[in-house]
Amino acid sequence: MAISDDTINQVKDRTNIIEIIGEYVNLKASGKNYKGLCPFHSEKTPSFMVSPDKGIFHCFGCGAGGNVFTFLMKFKGISFPDAVKLLGGRAGIQIRNSYSEKGIQSKLETIYNINKETTEIYEKNLFSENGKKALEYLKKRNFDPGIRKSFHIGYANDSWDSLLTLLRSRGYGIDLIEESGLIVKKKKGTGFYDRFRNRIIFPIQDNIDRVIGFGGRTFDNNDPDIPKYINSNENLLYHKGKYLYGFNNAADSIRQADSAFIVEGYIDVIRMHKEGIKNTVAPLGTALTEDQISLIMRYTRKIYLAFDSDDAGEKAMLRSISLMHRQGLDPSVICLPSGKDPGDFFDEYITDDFDLFVDEAVSGIDYIVNVHIDSKKEYNANEKITILQELVEYFNNMNDDILKIDFLKKISSALEINENILRQELIKLTRRATTSSFHHEDIKKKDTGVSTELYLLLLILSNPDLLPIAAGRLDDSYFHGKWTRKLWNAVNRASENTHWDSGTVFDYLDDGEFIEYLSGKLIEDRLNINPESQIIDVVSSLKEKRIRERIAVINMRLMKAELENNDNLTNELIVEKQVFSNELEKMKILRGSKSRL
Ligand code: CTP
Ligand code: MN
Repeated sequence: MAISDDTINQVKDRTNIIEIIGEYVNLKASGKNYKGLCPFHSEKTPSFMVSPDKGIFHCFGCGAGGNVFTFLMKFKGISFPDAVKLLGGRAGIQIRNSYSEKGIQSKLETIYNINKETTEIYEKNLFSENGKKALEYLKKRNFDPGIRKSFHIGYANDSWDSLLTLLRSRGYGIDLIEESGLIVKKKKGTGFYDRFRNRIIFPIQDNIDRVIGFGGRTFDNNDPDIPKYINSNENLLYHKGKYLYGFNNAADSIRQADSAFIVEGYIDVIRMHKEGIKNTVAPLGTALTEDQISLIMRYTRKIYLAFDSDDAGEKAMLRSISLMHRQGLDPSVICLPSGKDPGDFFDEYITDDFDLFVDEAVSGIDYIVNVHIDSKKEYNANEKITILQELVEYFNNMNDDILKIDFLKKISSALEINENILRQELIKLTRRATTSSFHHEDIKKKDTGVSTELYLLLLILSNPDLLPIAAGRLDDSYFHGKWTRKLWNAVNRASENTHWDSGTVFDYLDDGEFIEYLSGKLIEDRLNINPESQIIDVVSSLKEKRIRERIAVINMRLMKAELENNDNLTNELIVEKQVFSNELEKMKILRGSKSRL
């Protein structure tokens, strides 16, 4: 963790989870908890609960859950340290990084500053003599000053080192400038040169408006050997698979409209925004990734894909649809007139026309079926099988039964195959894929005692003050489940803080699905009924179980010793067994009288 535990807890202490989540979700009091419509999936009746006492939230609809930091991370798509900083800032707590992380933290700050200053430098360049042509080009392509400013579009001079020289003169060290990706090491000899030269610059911002990278487009040159775009390299700040172009400018509109458009490129995003369709984003020069989809899905489940209608566009479309199906969501596909992307669509059409294309959008499922099956054609049996073999992958990939049923219906009617036969065919080919390492079954197995271990931990999480009852009598050897042991250790680490609650414990767990599972359990009421005597009971039963196991082992050894006529050992074992049996007896009496431990 980059920030000390003390600081994290201080921030949490001064943060009111209801107030923070209440800024994004309309919460109503419901008993000790608060209830609202879940921001992580779409729903009509509230199943999203926040418990101020426990410092946690949980959605019974989609399973999302965690503490106030997890909420902001999920909601805003930011890292843990950024969530702590955001809340720390509000609470007036200065965030200092723990000693070992200080170096890296100030390094990141410096790179953010380099990017910020560079963005300003590039923006200014547009208005110098050097930037004249670039500015003309932007005008020709309908970039007005408003849109240019809101996307911080700029120009990188036609020079090998003008940026490098300027940044150096402002005191930035060559190492950090290199880490920002703005300069490139010369292949021959020593030294560096500017990565972006004579290009229109599109700064790429993260979800809280910080510039993390750049894309640069050529504009006065048709040399096929020169790439149309150059983008920042992957570096400390820039991860092209994690962010979306335009997201910071689009997030509010996506929420308001409860829908989002995904287009292919920078120019498309900017043009859509210019036409007032501000709920638009694009991936960063690569195919859409799962992270990017989850980011959008936090804001809306109505996603339109509007890619080029060429071959590459179709491939990208199919890939993206599949990715979304894996997350249980079917997007809509907008088919623009052939050869058009949103960037040039508006050179000929107006927004009313665009709305017509939106109305005509087909579902992702229909799109897949249409691409693979020509409705006018009669297929023979062999051809049908070939098509099914192509389609089964899409089917396996769908993480939602409703999607699967819809898909089956569509294929069934397009290929004229009886639905039941089709289902059997496809299901035969279906393989289940597993993703998270946490499985609910791991923890439910009654016979292993893991469910008792879990119940004890839930009682403790719900009633942190009562931890000492268990901590004094158990250690981690009493926890046999992989997950219950993890949780026990997390509880003990969390309890080293002056104030802690279940929310604190979540910071010490690293599996999101496990946290969601726990938050769901913790909202249950029975955990708060007579917790002290419940804990005493469960601790005793775990201890008893351990003693019974010991006795069972002794019995085995006894049997063997008797068979071998080893009298010495037999006597020893009988004494040993008696000690344990006495202990067991004592525990039963204690438990019966419910006295203190
Ligand atoms: N892209 C890239 N590298 C390239 C070409 C494209 O990273 N060599 C990415 C860019 O993010 C670009 C997107 O793919 O925005 C779409 O490419 P393209 O349609 O060729 O460019 P546009 O930005 O749409 O520009 P224009 O409309 O002017 O052709
Ligand atoms: Mn384009």
